[in-house]
Amino acid sequence: MNKLIITSAIITGTALAALAAAPATPAPAAAAPDAKAIWSEQCAKCHGDDGKGETKMGKKLDIKDLTDAKIQASFTDEQATKAIKEGTKDKTGEQLMKPIEGIKDDEIKALIPYVRALSKK
Ligand code: HEC
Repeated sequence: MNKLIITSAIITGTALAALAAAPATPAPAAAAPDAKAIWSEQCAKCHGDDGKGETKMGKKLDIKDLTDAKIQASFTDEQATKAIKEGTKDKTGEQLMKPIEGIKDDEIKALIPYVRALSKK
């Protein structure tokens, strides 16, 4: 009888230790937003999966080719951040890119290098 209690206490103890140790491993990877997924969900409908802007919306809004290094050089990371947060307007104040609703700062941070990498393909 006592032996059984001790054995189950050991098993429970091992299981608890395993549970306590488990979340420590995947945490850093899980915390980083998936820029590719955000791009596909929030950006690709206008900019296209490849960033060329060859979508219906892209043509209508005259979206520039983000795979073009010259276009990439035409805006800073700050401007890109602002565009994602606040949207962009043309000279007449007409809204071009709409602000992305509910996007988080760390998601934008992950998107900037993703946007930059579009031109290297
Ligand atoms: C409603 C369509 C639309 C959506 C959705 C959209 N964009 Fe845009 N985006 C535009 C238009 C229009 C422009 C302005 C024309 C241009 O510069 O090509 C633009 C411009 C930009 C620029 C250049 C900014 C500058 O200052 O020149 C970046 C970077 C950008 N978008 C990134 C994104 C990212 C990242 C997302 C997703 C989080 C996104 N866009 C979603 C339409 C869109």
